[in-house]
Amino acid sequence: MSDKSFSVSETRFVFPGARRRAALARRLAVNPAAKVAAFVTAAAFVLIVSLAPLASFVIEGWLRQDIEIRSRLIARSVRNHLLASGPESSLDLGRYLEQMVEDERLLALGYCSDAGVMLHATASMPKSISCRDFGAGKTNAFDVDSRPDPRAHVNAVSVGAGPTAGRLVVVHDLSFIDERSRKASYYTILALTGVTMALGLLATSVVLMATRGWARSVRSAILAPRAEEALKPLQAELPGGRDFRALLQALRVERKFTEGIYVEWSPATLGQLLAEELPQARVVIVSNREPYIHNYADGKPTLQIPASGLVAALEPVMRACGGVWVAHGSGAADRETVDEYDRIAVPPNDPAYSLRRVWLSDEEQDGYYYGLANEGLWPLCHIAFVRPNFREQDWSHYVAVNRKFAEVVIEEAECDDPIVLVQDYHFALLPRMIRDRLPNATIIAFWHIPWPNSETFGICPWREQIIDGLLGSTILGFHTQFHCNNFIDAVDRFMESRIDRETGSITLRGHETMVRPYPISIEWPPSALANQLPVEECRKELRRRLHLGDDMRIAIGIERFDYTKGVLDRIRAVDAFLSLHPEWLEKFVFIQAAAPTRSKLPVYSSLQAEARRLVDEINGRHGRNGWKPILLEIRHHEQGEVYALFRAADVCIVSSLHDGMNLVAKEFVAAREDEQGVLILSSFAGASRELSEALIVNPYDAHGMAEAIQEALKMPSGEQRERMRLMRELIRRDNVYSWAAQMLLHAARLRKSERLHRLIGQ
Ligand code: G6P
Repeated sequence: MSDKSFSVSETRFVFPGARRRAALARRLAVNPAAKVAAFVTAAAFVLIVSLAPLASFVIEGWLRQDIEIRSRLIARSVRNHLLASGPESSLDLGRYLEQMVEDERLLALGYCSDAGVMLHATASMPKSISCRDFGAGKTNAFDVDSRPDPRAHVNAVSVGAGPTAGRLVVVHDLSFIDERSRKASYYTILALTGVTMALGLLATSVVLMATRGWARSVRSAILAPRAEEALKPLQAELPGGRDFRALLQALRVERKFTEGIYVEWSPATLGQLLAEELPQARVVIVSNREPYIHNYADGKPTLQIPASGLVAALEPVMRACGGVWVAHGSGAADRETVDEYDRIAVPPNDPAYSLRRVWLSDEEQDGYYYGLANEGLWPLCHIAFVRPNFREQDWSHYVAVNRKFAEVVIEEAECDDPIVLVQDYHFALLPRMIRDRLPNATIIAFWHIPWPNSETFGICPWREQIIDGLLGSTILGFHTQFHCNNFIDAVDRFMESRIDRETGSITLRGHETMVRPYPISIEWPPSALANQLPVEECRKELRRRLHLGDDMRIAIGIERFDYTKGVLDRIRAVDAFLSLHPEWLEKFVFIQAAAPTRSKLPVYSSLQAEARRLVDEINGRHGRNGWKPILLEIRHHEQGEVYALFRAADVCIVSSLHDGMNLVAKEFVAAREDEQGVLILSSFAGASRELSEALIVNPYDAHGMAEAIQEALKMPSGEQRERMRLMRELIRRDNVYSWAAQMLLHAARLRKSERLHRLIGQ
């Protein structure tokens, strides 16, 4: 790939439906009500044109009546002539008739005896007319086409009596009728059209003026960052609802696909993104932790969902995308529940994707997971003042296990250009290993934990290999720009590569990797909320379970029992709070729910022991009358239970000493539909960059945290609501689907560009 062929930050994505949306917007640019007025006008015009033959029919009828009258007048004049000149003056009658046909509308005249003989006829009499046409029982009037002469109307009128009795045959030229009815239709159409158009124009302008405000709202709503929301209320007032709905839908997707101003990323829109931007792409996720673990309970395989931020974030994404998730099969009953290819369709009750389990020996597990990942990289990347341990043997296992997973990914890819989402510090080498085997793969690696500064990172004996492994990715994501910068600094310091800091592009041995921040989030709305009791009920239920009084105020802390989470510091802060504000004695309780994790490692088991000891000591000091200020629940809590705790609490304390993001903070906010409750959040958690309406604290400062607890308990309900609303709004918009979408969009863009470069041979 050529250097800086483009920059992701400058990328403008063109949504395939954009043309359609533009057409819709154009259609809607004219106020629909005005369109209705214009439509009515056009319909009136069509009606007028179709009624024009009726006008000519009526006029022709009138003119024919006129002809009849004229015929009778002529007959009367002929009779008078005959009476005056007598029956013998036939020569005279002939001349008389010739004189009369000089009238231009009279074509011919003839005189028939009662015996049916044409006694006189003007020279212009058409040959086709004879006196026999007017015998007894025959019609007295008819039209003839006397071509080459014009169309004619023939009329026979009885004249005289006795010897002069006979019939006068009057032949009228009909062409003037045709001419007149044509003119009449023409002028009728002209006049009515004029009137209709004038009325239509008037009506359209009245409608336009009356709805000018509405049209303005529609236009500005279309341009608003939350167009679809702004447009929704206007939809009800709209006659052309279908176009409008189509526009809403197009906007909804387009906004998501373009500037990231996006409103509601959901499983549906994420699925749509994959279908439209990455059609037929095979998605493979790799993580150490599996999303569903089978363990034995009462001798039977039982399903468990691990307490892991990574799983909480990625599982809903996978449900939306489908594909395969490759992970370590760590449950005791895992082998029993997979098929012959080590796969199981999950979620078990509504399968959406496939989980491919990889088996590790205890030795591999000890070296790769407990050793290098959790005793080496975890403390290396978190500033929690726990010394990292690097052992050569652990590194060998780490390399071997990464290779093992790479083989499985290649097997599951089923094509040469899959989209592989590599998760976390367990698989730093995987991107390079996959790239070597599948050069056309799109590899998105996400580092879920912080990346330290380069001095700190430099103590890792395999720093070059780790960086080199990660630079096999197409995109490398961190939660914050700060962590991206730290990574780029490390590359700058330890590798020979080309770096473009402005665009976050690193080119190593001709391969370019984009390094970008993608702050992770949670699904919205969280599925764990589905079966929750109302907040008041949750509160009652918790008080009942823990035997707490009705007016007891509740603070909680929930996480894996990890030293980076600042559990001990939080407990010390509660101690300080009660010492500083003794008025809360017997009126406040702090519940710490913590899931045991990595207990095999001494640093984790000693943390649990230390927490127990500290809680006992503080409870002993402040406790009285059966009241204990701190309740410690060290066990796994299912998501439903965690959300019930969130809903029951007045305050949630997240006091991580260092954290990539921390999804507990986001989950607490998401759980509070009642817009109540206060979040106390460590400034060293990535989440504090986004949730600035939380009470931001330094977890190392017990006094400061104690005052934050006091402030939280005293915070008026209105202020809680304002803060909650802002935070909820942010999480709703920047949910986990949006997180995945941004990476996939960038990947799609790079993928298209790479294909183009391959095609043109660069
Ligand atoms: C937390 C971190 C993740 C990490 C996971 C590992 O969720 O945020 O980055 O992957 O812990 O936990 P585990 O229990 O699988 O060791």
